[in-house]
Formats: sequence, structure tokens, C-alpha cells
Amino acid sequence: GKKIGILTAGGDCPGLNAAIRGVGKTAIMTYGMEVYGFTAGYSGLINKEYFKLDEPKVSGIITLGGTILGTSREKPYKLEKGEEFNDKPDLIRQTYEELDLDCVVCIGGNGTMKTASMMAKEGLNVIGIPKTIDNDVFGTDVTFGFDSAVGIATEAIDRLHSTANSHQRAMVIEVMGHHAGWIALYAGMAGGGDIILIPEIDYHIGKVCKTIEERFAKGKPYSIVVVAEGIDKPKKISAARYVVENIQTYTGIEARETRLGYIQRGGTPSPMDRILATQYGAFATELIADGAYNNMVAMRGNVLTAVPLDEVGGKLRLVDPADALITKARNLGVSFGDE
Ligand code: F6P
Repeated sequence: GKKIGILTAGGDCPGLNAAIRGVGKTAIMTYGMEVYGFTAGYSGLINKEYFKLDEPKVSGIITLGGTILGTSREKPYKLEKGEEFNDKPDLIRQTYEELDLDCVVCIGGNGTMKTASMMAKEGLNVIGIPKTIDNDVFGTDVTFGFDSAVGIATEAIDRLHSTANSHQRAMVIEVMGHHAGWIALYAGMAGGGDIILIPEIDYHIGKVCKTIEERFAKGKPYSIVVVAEGIDKPKKISAARYVVENIQTYTGIEARETRLGYIQRGGTPSPMDRILATQYGAFATELIADGAYNNMVAMRGNVLTAVPLDEVGGKLRLVDPADALITKARNLGVSFGDE
């Protein structure tokens, strides 16, 4: 059987353990492969920190949040300021050769895929699995972690409705997503947000204030504003704080902020994320068995596919402002702060 390594890199998300289990079980039980888990992302490959993943180690972990391997934001091919050279790529090759690996499965987001494609360029075999709550990995329709985060954010928004109503306030909730608005768009729509602000659609704070005033004037007792952390705003102030301060200053309406933070990244994965991560893991192993290296597994139109890593590495997938979903949301009265 082949010998493979596996690592999780970048910010964690629900479903990582389900993916590790999907890779591990398929590799060990169906293909008789030997599996090694590197700890703390690419740091484990650089520093030779790994352990053997036998079947019991990948059992009983599908419900667990986080990652049994640990993670880090280590970028081995990136030179620090003032550096002209680093020996990390060499150390990675040494570990790979000493362990006599056939492939390394790299589970992560855009940064991780970029690094994986660099490893492929260096002649090592890799397979990428896209994960992130942000849903912003280019080349796939969906990443695991997203559904769980949307679920948590939606529940949070649900809970704001009652207290917003009691106090007749404008409630601003900030969700994550880095440069993308996927979590804000989905949780905002699912949670019945009145205004949704995402980085992909330019908003005007004056229009946001006007919409809130108009809602109160129409007799709507409260407003829910869902904002993505990545919207345009002054530095050194959070998106939620910025919007709240403007609402209070320009409308006189009482406003409060909630920043969901790491709650939306922690804990047990949703059923959909468990299934997606399991499928990605199993499919990654099948690609290795076939020798179809240097691909990222992806879901496109509900079909599992392999996408060449050099086509995806590093590119972002953002919300398309012309998407039908946005038009539909507008038609039922959701404001994106632009009109
Ligand atoms: O990529 C996931 C994510 O949670 C983003 O939504 C957020 O911008 C970032 O990670 C936070 O990074 P860190 O874990 O380094 O604080």
C-alpha cells in the first residue's frame, strides 16, 4: 500500500476531523495505505512532528469540532521581511523523503491550497481538500465549515429578534468571512435580516441609516443589520461598532452591536458539513489510489470533481452581486445598503 501524510492548516472550522476520518478510514480500510498525521499544519512537515494515524485514532472523531492534528498559519514558501532565503521547503522535502511518502493531503483554505500548489511545483505529490467557514475557496461551489458557521450565525440572529423587539432597537450583528460576504449573506437571509452588508456590494452608511429610519416610520418596531467583518470601514474600529455609531449619531435610534467571533468557528459540525467533509476525504484518497495527484477535490453542481491545484492556488471566490439570490432578497425587501 501507499504511504500518505495528512495535515490541517489555516484557521480551523467544524468538519476537519470528519475529513481526517474520511481520508484515514478509506486509506486504511479500503486501500491498505499507511497514514501519518502532521501536527500544526505545515509546521509539522517542516519540523518532522507527526504520528501514525491507525484506525482507532481516526475513529470516534466525526462529531468533534477543531482538528485532532492541530493547525497553524505557517506559510513555508513565504519569505519574512528582509529574508532572502529560508530552508523550510528543503526541510519539507527531507521529511517527505525520509517517510517515503507517496502524497500529502493538505486540508485548508486559499492559503493552504497556494502552499500545496508550491509543493507540487517542487515535485512533491499533494492533494488539497477545501475547508473554511468563509466559503471563499476558488474552484469549488462549497467548502465544509460554511454550513456549520451559517447555522450558528443564524441561531444568533434568531435570538436577536426578540430582544430587539422588546427594546425597539437596531441590532447590528457582525459575522466573519474575511474578504467574502458568504456567511453574512446566508445567515442574514436565513435569519430574516433587514439589512445585509457584504464586502462585494458597496454600501453607503447614509442609506443604511435612512432605511432604518423608514422602517421605524412604517411602524416596524426594530431592525436587524447583519454585517460582514470585511466591509469597507475605517481601520481600528470593528464593522459592527462603525455601523452602530453611525446609526446612533444620524438617526437617534438606539443601536447595539454583537460580534459573533470565534463562536461561529467552534464546536461540532452540522450534518451537512460532516457529509461533505467525509466525501471530500474519501474522494481525496481515491485520487491518491489512482495516482491523480496535484488536484484539489471540489464540489461543482453537486458532483465531486478534481480541480488542478495550479488553477486554484490562492484565488478567492467572492459573492457575485448580480447573483439571483441577491435579486430575490432585494425583491422581498432586504436592503444591501446601496439603494
Ligand atoms: O478564515 C476563517 C476566519 O475565521 C475568517 O473568517 C477570519 O477573518 C479569520 O479566520 C480570523 O483569523 P484568526 O483565527 O487568525 O483570528
